[in-house]
Amino acid sequence: MKREQWKSQFGFLMAAVGSAIGLGNIWRFSYLAYKNGGGAFLIPYITALLTAGIALLILEFGVGHERIGSAPLAYARINRRWEWLGWWSVIFVMFGIVLYYTVIIGWCLNFFFYSFDLVWGNDPNDFFFNKFLHISSGPSEIGQTRTPILIGVIVVWFFNWAIVYRGIQKGVELANKIFMPLLFILTIVLVSWAVSFEGALSGIKAYLTPDFSKLSSPEVWIDAYSQIFFTLSLGFGIMITYASYLPAKSDLTKNAILTAFINCGFSIFAGFAVFSVLGFMATSQNLPISDVVRESIGLAFVAYPKAISMMPAGQLFGAIFFLSLVIAGLSSSVSIVEAFSAAYMDKFGGEKKKIVTVLCVLGLLGSIIFTTEGGLFWLDIVDHFLNHYGLVVVGVGECILVGWMFKLEVIRRHINKVSSISLGVWWNVLIKFIVPMILSLIIIWDLYHELEQPYENYSWTSLILIGRDWVLFTLVAGIVFAMRPWKTDLLDQEIVRKPSE
Ligand code: PHE
Repeated sequence: MKREQWKSQFGFLMAAVGSAIGLGNIWRFSYLAYKNGGGAFLIPYITALLTAGIALLILEFGVGHERIGSAPLAYARINRRWEWLGWWSVIFVMFGIVLYYTVIIGWCLNFFFYSFDLVWGNDPNDFFFNKFLHISSGPSEIGQTRTPILIGVIVVWFFNWAIVYRGIQKGVELANKIFMPLLFILTIVLVSWAVSFEGALSGIKAYLTPDFSKLSSPEVWIDAYSQIFFTLSLGFGIMITYASYLPAKSDLTKNAILTAFINCGFSIFAGFAVFSVLGFMATSQNLPISDVVRESIGLAFVAYPKAISMMPAGQLFGAIFFLSLVIAGLSSSVSIVEAFSAAYMDKFGGEKKKIVTVLCVLGLLGSIIFTTEGGLFWLDIVDHFLNHYGLVVVGVGECILVGWMFKLEVIRRHINKVSSISLGVWWNVLIKFIVPMILSLIIIWDLYHELEQPYENYSWTSLILIGRDWVLFTLVAGIVFAMRPWKTDLLDQEIVRKPSE
Protein backbone atom coordinates (compact mmCIF):
# COMPACT_ATOMS: atom_id res chain seq x y z
CA MET A 1 0.00 0.00 0.00
CA LYS A 2 1.25 3.45 -0.82
CA ARG A 3 2.08 5.73 2.07
CA GLU A 4 -0.07 8.80 2.39
CA GLN A 5 1.52 12.10 1.50
CA TRP A 6 1.00 15.80 2.15
CA LYS A 7 -0.35 17.80 -0.74
CA SER A 8 2.07 20.66 -0.13
CA GLN A 9 4.98 21.71 2.04
CA PHE A 10 2.77 24.47 3.37
CA GLY A 11 0.22 21.88 4.46
CA PHE A 12 2.91 19.96 6.28
CA LEU A 13 4.15 23.13 7.96
CA MET A 14 0.65 24.05 9.09
CA ALA A 15 0.11 20.54 10.50
CA ALA A 16 3.43 20.61 12.38
CA VAL A 17 2.67 24.08 13.71
CA GLY A 18 -0.83 22.88 14.58
CA SER A 19 0.57 20.07 16.68
CA ALA A 20 3.07 22.36 18.35
CA ILE A 21 0.73 25.23 19.15
CA GLY A 22 -1.72 24.00 21.73
CA LEU A 23 -3.18 24.71 25.12
CA GLY A 24 0.37 24.85 26.45
CA ASN A 25 1.23 27.94 24.44
CA ILE A 26 -1.55 30.13 25.67
CA TRP A 27 -1.70 29.77 29.38
CA ARG A 28 1.17 27.48 30.39
CA PHE A 29 3.81 29.61 28.74
CA SER A 30 2.48 32.90 30.11
CA TYR A 31 2.26 31.56 33.59
CA LEU A 32 5.73 30.02 33.49
CA ALA A 33 7.19 33.25 32.17
CA TYR A 34 5.59 35.23 34.95
CA LYS A 35 6.61 32.79 37.67
CA ASN A 36 10.16 32.42 36.48
CA GLY A 37 11.39 35.96 36.26
CA GLY A 38 9.21 37.60 33.59
CA GLY A 39 11.27 38.88 30.66
CA ALA A 40 14.32 37.12 32.06
CA PHE A 41 12.59 33.76 31.46
CA LEU A 42 13.07 34.37 27.76
CA ILE A 43 16.78 33.68 28.29
CA PRO A 44 16.44 30.05 29.49
CA TYR A 45 13.47 29.56 27.15
CA ILE A 46 15.37 30.66 24.05
CA THR A 47 18.50 28.83 25.24
CA ALA A 48 16.44 25.64 25.55
CA LEU A 49 14.98 26.26 22.11
CA LEU A 50 18.40 26.74 20.53
CA THR A 51 20.37 24.07 22.38
CA ALA A 52 17.79 21.29 22.45
CA GLY A 53 14.45 22.14 20.84
CA ILE A 54 15.46 22.88 17.26
CA ALA A 55 18.16 20.19 17.19
CA LEU A 56 15.68 17.53 18.31
CA LEU A 57 12.95 18.73 16.01
CA ILE A 58 15.38 18.46 13.09
CA LEU A 59 16.31 14.99 14.35
CA GLU A 60 12.66 13.88 14.47
CA PHE A 61 11.94 15.30 11.02
CA GLY A 62 15.14 13.68 9.73
CA VAL A 63 14.46 10.25 11.21
CA GLY A 64 10.83 10.17 10.02
CA HIS A 65 11.79 11.31 6.54
CA GLU A 66 14.89 9.19 6.03
CA ARG A 67 13.48 5.97 7.57
CA ILE A 68 9.98 6.64 6.20
CA GLY A 69 7.95 5.46 9.15
CA SER A 70 5.92 6.28 12.22
CA ALA A 71 7.93 6.25 15.45
CA PRO A 72 7.99 2.44 16.04
CA LEU A 73 8.75 1.61 12.42
CA ALA A 74 11.38 4.33 12.07
CA TYR A 75 13.14 3.23 15.27
CA ALA A 76 12.90 -0.45 14.35
CA ARG A 77 14.45 0.39 11.01
CA ILE A 78 17.37 1.86 12.91
CA ASN A 79 17.67 -0.95 15.40
CA ARG A 80 15.07 -3.64 15.92
CA ARG A 81 15.69 -3.80 19.61
CA TRP A 82 14.54 -0.19 20.08
CA GLU A 83 11.10 -0.50 18.61
CA TRP A 84 9.58 -0.31 22.10
CA LEU A 85 10.76 3.27 22.49
CA GLY A 86 8.61 4.32 19.54
CA TRP A 87 5.61 2.44 20.89
CA TRP A 88 6.06 3.83 24.34
CA SER A 89 6.08 7.42 23.09
CA VAL A 90 2.89 7.09 21.04
CA ILE A 91 1.19 5.07 23.77
CA PHE A 92 1.83 7.40 26.68
CA VAL A 93 0.68 10.36 24.63
CA MET A 94 -2.37 8.62 23.14
CA PHE A 95 -3.34 6.76 26.31
CA GLY A 96 -2.07 9.33 28.75
CA ILE A 97 -1.52 12.95 27.86
CA VAL A 98 -4.26 13.27 25.29
CA LEU A 99 -6.89 11.64 27.51
CA TYR A 100 -6.85 14.61 29.87
CA TYR A 101 -5.80 17.12 27.23
CA THR A 102 -9.11 16.51 25.45
CA VAL A 103 -10.92 17.01 28.75
CA ILE A 104 -9.37 20.48 29.10
CA ILE A 105 -10.47 21.24 25.53
CA GLY A 106 -13.91 20.06 26.66
CA TRP A 107 -13.84 22.60 29.52
CA CYS A 108 -12.90 25.30 27.03
CA LEU A 109 -15.83 24.33 24.84
CA ASN A 110 -18.18 24.70 27.81
CA PHE A 111 -16.64 28.04 28.74
CA PHE A 112 -17.02 29.19 25.15
CA PHE A 113 -20.78 28.87 25.58
CA TYR A 114 -20.74 30.18 29.14
CA SER A 115 -19.07 33.37 27.86
CA PHE A 116 -22.21 34.52 26.06
CA ASP A 117 -24.10 34.87 29.36
CA LEU A 118 -21.17 35.22 31.74
CA VAL A 119 -22.57 32.18 33.49
CA TRP A 120 -19.84 32.18 36.15
CA GLY A 121 -21.37 35.23 37.84
CA ASN A 122 -19.26 37.19 40.29
CA ASP A 123 -17.37 34.32 41.85
CA PRO A 124 -15.61 32.46 39.01
CA ASN A 125 -13.45 30.57 41.49
CA ASP A 126 -16.43 29.02 43.22
CA PHE A 127 -18.10 28.48 39.86
CA PHE A 128 -15.16 26.65 38.32
CA PHE A 129 -14.18 24.41 41.19
CA ASN A 130 -17.49 23.78 42.92
CA LYS A 131 -20.26 24.22 40.38
CA PHE A 132 -18.49 23.21 37.19
CA LEU A 133 -15.98 20.58 38.33
CA HIS A 134 -17.83 19.63 41.52
CA ILE A 135 -14.39 18.94 42.83
CA SER A 136 -14.06 16.10 45.32
CA SER A 137 -11.83 15.99 48.35
CA GLY A 138 -8.94 14.15 46.68
CA PRO A 139 -7.84 11.69 44.03
CA SER A 140 -9.19 8.67 45.88
CA GLU A 141 -12.71 10.06 45.83
CA ILE A 142 -13.69 9.81 42.19
CA GLY A 143 -17.41 10.57 42.44
CA GLN A 144 -19.62 10.86 39.39
CA THR A 145 -18.86 12.01 35.89
CA ARG A 146 -19.83 15.60 35.22
CA THR A 147 -22.33 15.65 32.39
CA PRO A 148 -21.39 19.03 30.82
CA ILE A 149 -17.75 18.02 30.77
CA LEU A 150 -18.54 14.61 29.34
CA ILE A 151 -20.60 16.18 26.56
CA GLY A 152 -17.73 18.55 25.77
CA VAL A 153 -15.31 15.64 25.60
CA ILE A 154 -17.60 13.64 23.32
CA VAL A 155 -17.67 16.59 20.94
CA VAL A 156 -13.87 16.86 21.04
CA TRP A 157 -13.40 13.15 20.26
CA PHE A 158 -15.95 13.43 17.52
CA PHE A 159 -13.85 16.17 15.88
CA ASN A 160 -10.66 14.15 16.34
CA TRP A 161 -12.36 11.25 14.66
CA ALA A 162 -13.93 13.24 11.84
CA ILE A 163 -10.62 14.91 10.96
CA VAL A 164 -8.24 11.95 11.10
CA TYR A 165 -10.78 9.62 9.47
CA ARG A 166 -10.64 11.67 6.28
CA GLY A 167 -6.96 10.94 5.81
CA ILE A 168 -3.89 13.13 5.62
CA GLN A 169 -4.74 15.45 2.74
CA LYS A 170 -8.48 15.79 3.18
CA GLY A 171 -8.44 15.56 6.96
CA VAL A 172 -5.38 16.61 8.94
CA GLU A 173 -3.89 18.88 6.28
CA LEU A 174 -7.12 20.60 5.33
CA ALA A 175 -8.17 21.10 8.96
CA ASN A 176 -4.85 22.68 9.88
CA LYS A 177 -4.84 24.88 6.79
CA ILE A 178 -8.09 26.32 8.11
CA PHE A 179 -7.36 26.18 11.84
CA MET A 180 -3.96 27.82 11.92
CA PRO A 181 -4.68 30.98 9.91
CA LEU A 182 -7.95 31.29 11.85
CA LEU A 183 -6.12 30.93 15.15
CA PHE A 184 -3.59 33.60 14.15
CA ILE A 185 -6.35 36.02 13.20
CA LEU A 186 -8.25 35.42 16.45
CA THR A 187 -5.07 35.88 18.46
CA ILE A 188 -4.22 39.13 16.69
CA VAL A 189 -7.73 40.35 17.49
CA LEU A 190 -7.34 39.37 21.15
CA VAL A 191 -3.93 40.96 21.56
CA SER A 192 -4.83 44.24 19.88
CA TRP A 193 -8.04 44.42 21.83
CA ALA A 194 -6.40 43.55 25.15
CA VAL A 195 -3.57 46.09 24.92
CA SER A 196 -6.15 48.85 24.60
CA PHE A 197 -7.57 48.17 28.06
CA GLU A 198 -6.84 50.56 30.87
CA GLY A 199 -3.98 49.17 32.94
CA ALA A 200 -2.82 46.83 30.17
CA LEU A 201 0.62 48.36 30.31
CA SER A 202 1.11 47.42 33.95
CA GLY A 203 0.36 43.81 33.06
CA ILE A 204 2.80 43.84 30.16
CA LYS A 205 5.39 45.33 32.47
CA ALA A 206 4.89 42.49 34.94
CA TYR A 207 5.18 40.01 32.07
CA LEU A 208 8.37 41.39 30.63
CA THR A 209 10.29 43.09 33.44
CA PRO A 210 13.31 40.86 33.85
CA ASP A 211 14.19 39.52 37.24
CA PHE A 212 17.64 38.18 36.53
CA SER A 213 18.09 36.79 40.02
CA LYS A 214 15.73 33.94 39.08
CA LEU A 215 18.20 32.66 36.51
CA SER A 216 20.38 31.14 39.18
CA SER A 217 17.66 28.70 40.18
CA PRO A 218 17.85 25.29 38.45
CA GLU A 219 14.07 24.96 38.52
CA VAL A 220 13.69 27.88 36.16
CA TRP A 221 15.93 26.12 33.65
CA ILE A 222 14.09 22.84 34.09
CA ASP A 223 10.79 24.59 33.48
CA ALA A 224 12.22 26.11 30.32
CA TYR A 225 13.50 22.82 28.93
CA SER A 226 10.33 20.90 29.79
CA GLN A 227 8.18 23.61 28.27
CA ILE A 228 10.20 23.50 25.03
CA PHE A 229 9.72 19.73 24.89
CA PHE A 230 6.00 19.88 25.49
CA THR A 231 5.36 22.84 23.24
CA LEU A 232 7.25 21.44 20.24
CA SER A 233 5.55 18.02 20.71
CA LEU A 234 9.01 16.42 21.03
CA GLY A 235 9.22 12.82 22.18
CA PHE A 236 5.54 12.36 21.23
CA GLY A 237 6.29 10.39 18.05
CA ILE A 238 4.19 12.94 16.19
CA MET A 239 6.83 14.91 14.31
CA ILE A 240 8.47 11.66 13.12
CA THR A 241 5.16 10.46 11.69
CA TYR A 242 4.33 13.80 10.08
CA ALA A 243 7.76 13.91 8.39
CA SER A 244 7.27 10.40 7.03
CA TYR A 245 4.45 11.73 4.83
CA LEU A 246 6.75 14.23 3.11
CA PRO A 247 7.82 13.74 -0.49
CA ALA A 248 11.46 12.96 -1.26
CA LYS A 249 12.41 16.55 -1.93
CA SER A 250 11.48 18.39 1.24
CA ASP A 251 13.25 21.14 3.06
CA LEU A 252 13.58 19.60 6.52
CA THR A 253 15.76 22.13 8.34
CA LYS A 254 13.84 25.13 7.04
CA ASN A 255 10.54 23.58 8.10
CA ALA A 256 11.90 22.66 11.54
CA ILE A 257 13.21 26.16 12.14
CA LEU A 258 9.98 27.72 10.90
CA THR A 259 7.86 25.41 13.07
CA ALA A 260 9.93 26.20 16.14
CA PHE A 261 9.95 29.96 15.64
CA ILE A 262 6.29 30.25 14.71
CA ASN A 263 5.41 28.19 17.79
CA CYS A 264 7.56 30.11 20.26
CA GLY A 265 6.76 33.46 18.65
CA PHE A 266 3.09 32.62 19.07
CA SER A 267 3.57 31.91 22.78
CA ILE A 268 5.38 35.19 23.40
CA PHE A 269 2.80 37.11 21.38
CA ALA A 270 -0.21 35.49 23.09
CA GLY A 271 1.38 36.37 26.43
CA PHE A 272 0.66 40.03 25.66
CA ALA A 273 -3.07 39.32 25.62
CA VAL A 274 -2.92 37.26 28.80
CA PHE A 275 -1.01 39.90 30.74
CA SER A 276 -2.82 42.94 29.36
CA VAL A 277 -6.01 41.40 30.69
CA LEU A 278 -4.44 40.73 34.08
CA GLY A 279 -3.11 44.30 34.17
CA PHE A 280 -6.57 45.60 33.38
CA MET A 281 -8.08 43.50 36.14
CA ALA A 282 -5.50 44.53 38.70
CA THR A 283 -5.91 48.20 37.83
CA SER A 284 -9.69 48.16 38.02
CA GLN A 285 -9.61 46.44 41.40
CA ASN A 286 -6.68 48.43 42.65
CA LEU A 287 -4.71 45.29 43.40
CA PRO A 288 -1.11 44.38 42.65
CA ILE A 289 -0.68 42.07 39.65
CA SER A 290 0.58 39.26 41.86
CA ASP A 291 -2.87 39.09 43.47
CA VAL A 292 -4.68 38.46 40.21
CA VAL A 293 -2.29 35.99 38.57
CA ARG A 294 -3.37 32.40 39.02
CA GLU A 295 -1.61 29.12 38.50
CA SER A 296 -1.90 27.52 35.10
CA ILE A 297 -5.44 26.20 35.10
CA GLY A 298 -6.76 28.96 37.31
CA LEU A 299 -5.38 31.51 34.88
CA ALA A 300 -7.70 30.46 32.05
CA PHE A 301 -10.71 29.31 34.03
CA VAL A 302 -10.78 31.65 37.03
CA ALA A 303 -8.76 34.81 36.41
CA TYR A 304 -9.84 35.19 32.82
CA PRO A 305 -13.58 34.74 33.38
CA LYS A 306 -13.38 37.31 36.13
CA ALA A 307 -11.72 39.81 33.82
CA ILE A 308 -14.19 39.00 31.05
CA SER A 309 -17.06 39.94 33.36
CA MET A 310 -15.44 43.28 34.06
CA MET A 311 -14.56 44.42 30.56
CA PRO A 312 -16.80 46.09 27.99
CA ALA A 313 -18.14 43.55 25.46
CA GLY A 314 -16.52 40.85 27.56
CA GLN A 315 -18.89 38.24 26.17
CA LEU A 316 -17.34 38.53 22.75
CA PHE A 317 -13.81 38.68 24.12
CA GLY A 318 -14.45 35.56 26.21
CA ALA A 319 -15.96 33.67 23.31
CA ILE A 320 -12.97 34.46 21.09
CA PHE A 321 -10.53 33.51 23.84
CA PHE A 322 -12.09 30.11 24.54
CA LEU A 323 -12.63 29.42 20.86
CA SER A 324 -8.91 30.03 20.27
CA LEU A 325 -8.10 27.53 22.99
CA VAL A 326 -10.42 24.95 21.43
CA ILE A 327 -8.84 25.37 17.99
CA ALA A 328 -5.29 25.30 19.34
CA GLY A 329 -6.10 22.20 21.38
CA LEU A 330 -7.87 20.29 18.62
CA SER A 331 -5.04 20.69 16.13
CA SER A 332 -2.74 19.15 18.74
CA SER A 333 -5.00 16.28 19.76
CA VAL A 334 -5.61 15.17 16.16
CA SER A 335 -1.86 14.92 15.67
CA ILE A 336 -1.48 12.13 18.21
CA VAL A 337 -4.51 10.23 16.93
CA GLU A 338 -2.82 10.35 13.53
CA ALA A 339 0.56 9.32 14.96
CA PHE A 340 -0.85 6.36 16.86
CA SER A 341 -2.95 5.05 14.00
CA ALA A 342 0.03 5.37 11.68
CA ALA A 343 2.14 3.36 14.12
CA TYR A 344 -0.53 0.69 14.30
CA MET A 345 -1.01 0.52 10.55
CA ASP A 346 2.70 0.40 9.82
CA LYS A 347 3.02 -2.71 11.94
CA PHE A 348 -0.30 -4.50 11.78
CA GLY A 349 -1.80 -3.19 8.56
CA GLY A 350 -5.58 -2.83 8.44
CA GLU A 351 -7.96 -0.20 7.30
CA LYS A 352 -7.29 3.31 8.51
CA LYS A 353 -10.94 4.27 8.91
CA LYS A 354 -11.61 1.33 11.17
CA ILE A 355 -8.50 1.86 13.24
CA VAL A 356 -9.22 5.55 13.74
CA THR A 357 -12.79 4.80 14.77
CA VAL A 358 -11.78 2.22 17.37
CA LEU A 359 -9.00 4.48 18.60
CA CYS A 360 -11.27 7.46 19.14
CA VAL A 361 -13.82 5.33 20.99
CA LEU A 362 -11.05 4.02 23.25
CA GLY A 363 -9.78 7.57 23.70
CA LEU A 364 -13.21 8.77 24.74
CA LEU A 365 -13.59 5.90 27.21
CA GLY A 366 -10.15 6.65 28.65
CA SER A 367 -11.01 10.32 29.06
CA ILE A 368 -13.99 9.55 31.27
CA ILE A 369 -11.95 9.23 34.45
CA PHE A 370 -10.82 12.85 34.00
CA THR A 371 -14.40 14.06 33.68
CA THR A 372 -15.28 12.91 37.18
CA GLU A 373 -15.39 14.94 40.36
CA GLY A 374 -11.92 13.70 41.25
CA GLY A 375 -10.76 14.23 37.65
CA LEU A 376 -8.73 17.36 38.28
CA PHE A 377 -6.53 15.55 40.79
CA TRP A 378 -5.97 12.68 38.40
CA LEU A 379 -5.18 15.11 35.65
CA ASP A 380 -2.67 16.92 37.79
CA ILE A 381 -0.86 13.74 38.85
CA VAL A 382 -0.80 12.00 35.47
CA ASP A 383 0.32 15.22 33.80
CA HIS A 384 3.19 15.64 36.23
CA PHE A 385 4.47 12.10 35.87
CA LEU A 386 4.10 11.70 32.12
CA ASN A 387 5.68 15.03 31.33
CA HIS A 388 8.55 14.59 33.72
CA TYR A 389 9.31 10.92 33.25
CA GLY A 390 7.85 10.13 29.84
CA LEU A 391 8.80 12.91 27.48
CA VAL A 392 12.25 13.61 28.77
CA VAL A 393 13.19 9.94 29.01
CA VAL A 394 12.09 9.38 25.42
CA GLY A 395 14.19 12.41 24.47
CA VAL A 396 17.31 10.87 26.00
CA GLY A 397 16.46 7.51 24.40
CA GLU A 398 16.14 9.15 20.99
CA CYS A 399 19.54 10.78 21.29
CA ILE A 400 21.19 7.53 22.39
CA LEU A 401 19.51 5.46 19.71
CA VAL A 402 20.16 7.75 16.79
CA GLY A 403 23.37 9.29 18.06
CA TRP A 404 25.15 6.21 19.33
CA MET A 405 23.55 3.04 17.95
CA PHE A 406 23.43 4.31 14.42
CA LYS A 407 25.45 6.40 12.05
CA LEU A 408 24.19 9.84 12.92
CA GLU A 409 26.10 10.99 9.87
CA VAL A 410 23.66 9.08 7.65
CA ILE A 411 20.80 11.15 8.99
CA ARG A 412 22.76 14.40 8.85
CA ARG A 413 23.82 13.78 5.26
CA HIS A 414 20.29 12.92 4.32
CA ILE A 415 18.98 16.10 5.92
CA ASN A 416 21.63 18.20 4.18
CA LYS A 417 20.90 16.59 0.84
CA VAL A 418 17.26 17.62 0.87
CA SER A 419 17.38 20.85 2.87
CA SER A 420 18.33 24.41 2.05
CA ILE A 421 20.02 25.14 5.38
CA SER A 422 22.92 22.75 6.00
CA LEU A 423 23.73 21.27 9.37
CA GLY A 424 27.31 21.43 10.57
CA VAL A 425 29.02 18.86 12.78
CA TRP A 426 27.86 20.94 15.73
CA TRP A 427 24.49 19.24 15.29
CA ASN A 428 26.09 15.83 15.91
CA VAL A 429 27.71 17.23 19.04
CA LEU A 430 24.36 18.51 20.28
CA ILE A 431 22.56 15.21 19.66
CA LYS A 432 25.33 12.95 20.93
CA PHE A 433 26.46 14.87 23.98
CA ILE A 434 24.81 18.11 24.95
CA VAL A 435 21.09 17.31 24.67
CA PRO A 436 21.24 13.89 26.41
CA MET A 437 23.43 15.38 29.12
CA ILE A 438 21.07 18.24 29.86
CA LEU A 439 18.05 15.95 29.80
CA SER A 440 19.68 13.40 32.08
CA LEU A 441 20.50 16.13 34.58
CA ILE A 442 16.85 17.18 34.52
CA ILE A 443 15.68 13.63 35.17
CA ILE A 444 18.07 13.19 38.09
CA TRP A 445 17.13 16.52 39.61
CA ASP A 446 13.43 15.76 39.20
CA LEU A 447 13.69 12.30 40.72
CA TYR A 448 15.62 13.62 43.66
CA HIS A 449 12.95 16.19 44.41
CA GLU A 450 10.19 13.70 43.81
CA LEU A 451 11.49 11.48 46.56
CA GLU A 452 12.27 14.34 48.86
CA GLN A 453 8.75 15.64 48.93
CA PRO A 454 5.56 14.14 47.49
CA TYR A 455 4.30 16.15 44.52
CA GLU A 456 1.81 18.80 45.67
CA ASN A 457 1.51 16.91 48.95
CA TYR A 458 -0.69 14.20 47.52
CA SER A 459 -0.52 10.93 49.44
CA TRP A 460 2.23 8.59 48.31
CA THR A 461 -0.40 5.95 47.58
CA SER A 462 -2.17 8.14 45.03
CA LEU A 463 1.09 9.27 43.48
CA ILE A 464 2.33 5.72 43.11
CA LEU A 465 -0.95 4.15 41.98
CA ILE A 466 -1.93 6.90 39.59
CA GLY A 467 1.28 8.60 38.53
CA ARG A 468 4.07 6.07 38.65
CA ASP A 469 1.90 3.18 37.52
CA TRP A 470 0.51 5.11 34.59
CA VAL A 471 4.07 5.60 33.38
CA LEU A 472 4.88 1.91 33.98
CA PHE A 473 1.73 0.55 32.35
CA THR A 474 2.34 2.53 29.19
CA LEU A 475 5.93 1.34 29.17
CA VAL A 476 4.88 -2.31 29.53
CA ALA A 477 2.26 -1.81 26.81
CA GLY A 478 5.00 -0.38 24.60
CA ILE A 479 7.17 -3.44 25.15
CA VAL A 480 4.25 -5.79 24.47
CA PHE A 481 3.38 -4.02 21.21
CA ALA A 482 7.03 -4.21 20.17
CA MET A 483 7.13 -7.95 20.83
CA ARG A 484 4.15 -8.74 18.63
CA PRO A 485 5.12 -10.10 15.21
CA TRP A 486 5.00 -7.76 12.22
CA LYS A 487 1.97 -8.30 9.99
CA THR A 488 3.21 -6.02 7.23
CA ASP A 489 6.47 -6.47 5.40
CA LEU A 490 7.52 -2.86 5.91
CA LEU A 491 10.34 -3.69 8.28
CA ASP A 492 11.98 -6.10 5.86
CA GLN A 493 11.57 -3.96 2.81
CA GLU A 494 14.50 -1.97 1.63
CA ILE A 495 13.86 1.70 2.27
CA VAL A 496 13.66 3.34 -1.09
CA ARG A 497 11.90 6.45 -2.08
CA LYS A 498 11.54 7.24 -5.73
CA PRO A 499 12.41 10.88 -6.41
CA SER A 500 8.92 11.42 -7.73
CA GLU A 501 7.28 10.26 -4.50
N1 PHE B 1 2.40 20.93 21.80
C1 PHE B 1 1.15 20.82 22.49
C2 PHE B 1 0.93 22.01 23.40
O1 PHE B 1 1.79 22.84 23.59
C3 PHE B 1 1.15 19.58 23.31
C4 PHE B 1 0.43 18.40 22.73
C5 PHE B 1 0.66 17.95 21.43
C6 PHE B 1 -0.48 17.72 23.48
C7 PHE B 1 -0.02 16.87 20.93
C8 PHE B 1 -1.17 16.62 22.99
C9 PHE B 1 -0.94 16.20 21.71
O2 PHE B 1 -0.13 22.16 23.95
